[in-house]
Amino acid sequence: ALKLVVIGGGSSYTPEIIEGMIKRYDSFPVSEIVLVDIEAGKGKLEVIGNLALRMVEKSGKPIKLSWTLDREKALENADFVSTQIRVGGLDARAKDERIPLSHGFIGQETNGAGGIMKAFRTIPVLMELAEDVHRICPNAWIINFTNPAGIVTEALLKHSFHQKVIGVCNIPFNMRHSTAEILNVSPEDVRIEFVGMNHFVFGKKVYVQGIDRTNEVLEKLQGDKLNYSPANIVNLGWSKTFIESTGLLPNPYHQYYFQTRDVLKKDIQSFHEHGTRAEKVMELEKSLFEIYSNQQLQDKPKELEERGGAFYSDVACSLMDSIYNNREDVQTVNTTNNGAIPDLPDDAVIEVNSVITSHGPEPITEGALPASVKGIVYQMKAFEELVILAAITGDYNDAYKAFVMNPLMGDEKQSKIVLDELLTAHQSYLPQF
Ligand code: G6P
Ligand code: MN
Repeated sequence: ALKLVVIGGGSSYTPEIIEGMIKRYDSFPVSEIVLVDIEAGKGKLEVIGNLALRMVEKSGKPIKLSWTLDREKALENADFVSTQIRVGGLDARAKDERIPLSHGFIGQETNGAGGIMKAFRTIPVLMELAEDVHRICPNAWIINFTNPAGIVTEALLKHSFHQKVIGVCNIPFNMRHSTAEILNVSPEDVRIEFVGMNHFVFGKKVYVQGIDRTNEVLEKLQGDKLNYSPANIVNLGWSKTFIESTGLLPNPYHQYYFQTRDVLKKDIQSFHEHGTRAEKVMELEKSLFEIYSNQQLQDKPKELEERGGAFYSDVACSLMDSIYNNREDVQTVNTTNNGAIPDLPDDAVIEVNSVITSHGPEPITEGALPASVKGIVYQMKAFEELVILAAITGDYNDAYKAFVMNPLMGDEKQSKIVLDELLTAHQSYLPQF
């Protein structure tokens, strides 16, 4: 019998993972699913639990579904543990977005100052989870969706005993699907060679059924607005010169780094019109939960696609399916470098195409970093190491260094001002500081 435990089960995204499990049941028979949440998320958990029950019932699959606040009990005999938590909820996200913005810096949940603070809040909580998993269900795989997913995965792999941890994100999936759309081919036939880290990944080459079609995609990306932004990120398009000279497919998050002034202008403008993305997501959540509460509803509703993380569960479900069935197919995951990119540390976590086996992902060798982005990839990885260090030590100077060394912060005096304000604002979720 296969058992999946979803940590953060009260999330509005959960109907996706339930649908994914139902769809794959015949080849990947998960017969028990437990949704876990904390006291603060109890109300949402019940709504989601009941909807999930109706979905399972409609499917006719023999899946035992339950929900609980008792994490330790839930973890007994788990084979897979997926995590999708948000420490401090959307209120904390709003602060991560607003405070940097109010000082003239990018305010985003996984980039710049906001992303650093999210890592500080999240890493200690997931370290505890990893310890529980290691003690209660040591053979289980942790599939981590919790942001900043790459940094969190690296923290767990470096500092927890549990080593069966894989990070995932929908960005590589989205890039593959939009590329397929651009080329008018089926996504299954598209393979993108990725290089970099989570939310900082570039596409190096695009192959369709083995044929190199990179140049065609790069040409289509130039000048117009084909940059595959999910619902949560601006879409400013890329200049012909940037695409031509780098020869790489950027991901939507790269706009924060390579179009910082324009994004900032846009973000400040939309902040004045309707607040930050957190406020928008609060509204979306409200209407999603109203929809979920409808007792007639037995499917994942279309409206969920307005969330930036839509389709995340396809990534998680295919990954678990391939581990279970030792499929040895290629998927893009966050895992330990181990020489795949020889110029990054072996123990760094990168977002990389990997062969998925029953003993985990085996990263495919990528070779040296492309010269055009080598510098910033080095800097971002070194910065991520500082974030992890600070999240673990709770040392003020470590935290400050992470701020100063982040390309979106940098200014030494402003970094202190923004850091201090964020540390105070998030105090109750930062026991280590
Ligand atoms: C993207 C990212 C996810 C992130 C999501 C935010 O797709 O890959 O890591 O969680 O967007 O979406 P939201 O609807 O919460 O703004
Ligand atoms: Mn992501």
